[in-house]
Amino acid sequence: MDLDARFSAAVAIAEEAATLALHHFERRSELTVELKGLQDHVTQADREVEALIRRRITERYPEDGLVGEEQGSGGSSTSRALWVIDPIDGTTNFVRGLPQWGVCIAFCADEVVEHGVIVAPVLRERYVARRGRGAFCNDRAISVSRTAKLSESVIGFGSNKKTPWEPYVGALSKLLAEGIEYRRIGCASMNLAAVASGKLDGFFEAKLSPWDALAGMLMVKEAGGRCNDYLADDGLLRGNAVLVGNQPLYDVLAAAFGVWNEA
Ligand code: IPD
Ligand code: CA
Repeated sequence: MDLDARFSAAVAIAEEAATLALHHFERRSELTVELKGLQDHVTQADREVEALIRRRITERYPEDGLVGEEQGSGGSSTSRALWVIDPIDGTTNFVRGLPQWGVCIAFCADEVVEHGVIVAPVLRERYVARRGRGAFCNDRAISVSRTAKLSESVIGFGSNKKTPWEPYVGALSKLLAEGIEYRRIGCASMNLAAVASGKLDGFFEAKLSPWDALAGMLMVKEAGGRCNDYLADDGLLRGNAVLVGNQPLYDVLAAAFGVWNEA
């Protein structure tokens, strides 16, 4: 399996997809916003961008499997070569004109995440990571923070309407009492990219789908951070909790949120 070629393809496809998404973002008042569930939006932009990414991958790699947020897997999520895509992560931010959203593409070979790409066109940031080869933002190597005290930390926290958040309010409130600052960016992949580049010290969300999680978790790992074992318990099929952190703070965050399986 040619991983180098697939990585270059992922970067080129994510860039082209981000350009199309940005075109729609700049005309977002013309988009019809539909609801998939409570506070869970989808637009023509999500669908068109996913269709473009699927077309480009299939032209190059017709045998590879593909899982995407808007069109599902068509039963291919067990393929040896699997592309996992979110055309727009952070759709709520997108429809409201907030800048934190991006195109996410991850690639797995035999259920090992080999590379991930996140392109956030409004922020003009392109994050990439390859397994064993580091993580980069706009071609510059990135690394996680060294913050060692909760009282100096800024932690990302995410939630959605499909997963109960109440069990985690106690943990968050204890961490707040220990002095953390927290951020709710509203885009899981951008939270993960922020941890990978040291802008945040950790991030937790009780359940995320693989298209939101895989690319950014690889970035955190490759930037020297720590992650829970997302792929455990069929995470690739069913989604899982996501906890990431820098070296010193991961354990205390894991204890607070009750996440025990580090990858
Ligand atoms: C969502 C965002 C949000 C997170 C949700 C995700 P979407 O993705 O990443 O920050 O809290 O769990 O589903 O629906 O905008 O692609
Ligand atoms: Ca999405």
